[in-house]
Amino acid sequence: MTDELLSQSLSAAPAGEPADAPRLDPDLAAAARALAARGAVLLRNNHDALPLDPAAPVAVLGRVQKDWIAVGYGSGGDVNPPYVTNLLDSLREEGVAVDAPLAALTEAWCQAHPVDPGTEWGRWPLSFPEMPLDEELRAAIAAAAARATTAVVVIGRAAGEDRESALEPGSYYLTDDERALLEAAAGAFERTVAVVVTGNVIDLSWAEELGVDALLLAWCGGMEGGRAIARVLVGADEPGGRLPDTIARRYEDYPSAGHFGDPQANDYVEDVFVGYRYFETFAPDAVLHPFGFGLGYTTHEITGRPPAAGDDGVSVRARARNTGGRVGSAVVQLYVSKPDGALSQPARELVAFARTAALEPGAAQTVELAVPWRDLASYDDSGATGHRFAWVLPAGTYTFHLGADVRSARPIGAVEIDAVRVLRRLEQAAAPAPDHPFRRMTRRTGPDGASVVGWEPVPVSEVDLRERILSRLPQALPAPAGTADGAAPSFASVLDGTTGLEDFVAGLEPGDLAALAYGDIEMDSPLGAPGNAGAFGGVTERLRSLGVPPAITTDGPSGIRLAATASLLPCGTALASTWDPGAVRALAALHGREMAALGSEVLLSPGMNIHRDPLCGRNFEYFSEDPLLTGSLAAAVVTGVQSTGRAACPKHFAANNQETNRIFADSRVSERALREIYLRGFEIVVSGAAPQVIMTSYNKINGVWGHYHYDLVTTIARGEWGYEGLIITDWWMRMATDPDFPALRDSAYRVRAGVDVLMPGGDTHFSTTRDDAIMDSYRAENGITLGEMQAAALHVLRFLADRARA
Ligand code: BGC
Repeated sequence: MTDELLSQSLSAAPAGEPADAPRLDPDLAAAARALAARGAVLLRNNHDALPLDPAAPVAVLGRVQKDWIAVGYGSGGDVNPPYVTNLLDSLREEGVAVDAPLAALTEAWCQAHPVDPGTEWGRWPLSFPEMPLDEELRAAIAAAAARATTAVVVIGRAAGEDRESALEPGSYYLTDDERALLEAAAGAFERTVAVVVTGNVIDLSWAEELGVDALLLAWCGGMEGGRAIARVLVGADEPGGRLPDTIARRYEDYPSAGHFGDPQANDYVEDVFVGYRYFETFAPDAVLHPFGFGLGYTTHEITGRPPAAGDDGVSVRARARNTGGRVGSAVVQLYVSKPDGALSQPARELVAFARTAALEPGAAQTVELAVPWRDLASYDDSGATGHRFAWVLPAGTYTFHLGADVRSARPIGAVEIDAVRVLRRLEQAAAPAPDHPFRRMTRRTGPDGASVVGWEPVPVSEVDLRERILSRLPQALPAPAGTADGAAPSFASVLDGTTGLEDFVAGLEPGDLAALAYGDIEMDSPLGAPGNAGAFGGVTERLRSLGVPPAITTDGPSGIRLAATASLLPCGTALASTWDPGAVRALAALHGREMAALGSEVLLSPGMNIHRDPLCGRNFEYFSEDPLLTGSLAAAVVTGVQSTGRAACPKHFAANNQETNRIFADSRVSERALREIYLRGFEIVVSGAAPQVIMTSYNKINGVWGHYHYDLVTTIARGEWGYEGLIITDWWMRMATDPDFPALRDSAYRVRAGVDVLMPGGDTHFSTTRDDAIMDSYRAENGITLGEMQAAALHVLRFLADRARA
């Protein structure tokens, strides 16, 4: 469909609704609703409390039933949706007999105590004060319990950018008022269902303690979330979600807990033992709900043939059969236990998964799970296997476990590797700095044979970065023929194929090359639709006179952040809980069509940092503690968006795992953990979905800011992964002088690292007294070279040429 046709189809008002109501794609809304339901995770369902009997009255408690939390705060949630559904109205819409006096009391209270959304950036509320359990509410609950057997209690949490969730009541923990409400419900009604609306994991140990029968983790489902959850509660849709994160009994049990939130630096001491990799190895009893877990309204038997090893890897044929009484889909999960020898290995790692179709009772589906050898490999950063700086398959037994979650998966067979196999030799890159050594977790066998935590020094960097960079500087392009007459090159001739892109770049003045390395100074660029995040490309008159167009970016991930009305979609955690890349790809393709209609060319999405710690304020924008799930879902978003000719921009590259002092904090992490956990998702996206743009992170990684990180950007992403697209900064960057090259500061330092564009743009943000750092350095002795400036310009212009041809 052309953009014009799409805008027309978006603007036709359905019968019966006001003609001036904003109109968006109903298919996108329907897909968002379906995925919000598919991502909802049912964690308990005692006494078959769910689904609700639609004919029976239900008492609904808690203000969030009305003051629904559809998304988190900050750039990732700041969308202007046409509407937001809430649970109370949606239950009524589904025909549920909601207890009227209780609902009236709640609605009146909500009206008298409106939510204060907070206006100061980063100071938004983490939750809304709950109705106190006063005499009136107590009496209303008692009266409702005489009419209804089931109570639904809704608890809500918000999270946001530039701040963490807090280890306090009202954020990670329940408030006294919330606890009192749950206690009162559990005491008065035959069955109590708790619905938790949150983007981030919170403490859920109270459900067991308070005797809550059913617990539904609803996440933040966007504008259709209330409707989706109502449909799940009444059984119109199954709760399809499986946990993308481990839920521990106590926050203190997470392996990152003592090393998170330091404003200066955090040592990633848990190394590769992130999330379930830690819990399943060392502390299974600390788990309340295991990774991958989620109940449906039916049951499945999952069986599999033994793994078959071939040239490309290992494959497993698995089968899921619906053994229950209702229609429902299964998520088949395959884990591996690697030989724990020279390299410490987690007890289990996810290596493949598949979601079946909705199966009728008794019906079965076979799925083929393929695991490339590379996905079974480990990165040796210490030389313990005899092959330092290589992806290796250590010798030994690789046992495969198949099932419905990490804990209950059962062994189906093993593959033997006789002698260590080296899959790819690399070079040390991005390792911890020698002046910041720390110790990392290893796996040891305790006296009783159980795995216990051991420690070893983390290998530090031995790289001469200066030498590495100098030996690989990009060469200047040969001068193109035919520019001697001074005729200005034209980008139109690149687009029509009469001029090669490299010739066009070779003909540009250094000043033009420098201009291409900056965005349009401010967010909300006048070159694009109001409310955009900024533009790059043809951001100067001179560039536009050469025919270079601007490209308009918008946030992401939960919708298109513009002044215009746009669809608000389920948050990243909700999408991850679907374990359904196919459906997420379809949603993202519809989202791409909305981008076209609203004037967004680059969606600053997916957010794909690892959920290292449940308190990270932006976890709701990201997917999971697991890199395979993260990478698969992120690749689905990128493929979907880019199938429409729009671009996606995975972010934040890399290790942006906390919000506290996010611009200065240093993530200190071993090269192995970087490659196996924190970079792995990005690598999956680059190899599987070819994103047109990648955004670096604000934080430092082993002492170097993301936007100056030559090893991450050039050695690893471009060199090892073969990434050919555009790399941009997160919005603004820290000004600094290159420690290895004093003639390079700020944006010159950035371009040397291989980061093409400073967004939203301009050194002048930070200093009105300085000239452009790139041109300054270009003119200086031993400064940035023409070849480096041309390389950045090539990335920008190749992107623009691809966009123009899409
Ligand atoms: C965020 C990015 C976002 C950008 C533009 C930054 O503060 O970290 O995720 O895309 O702003 O809004």
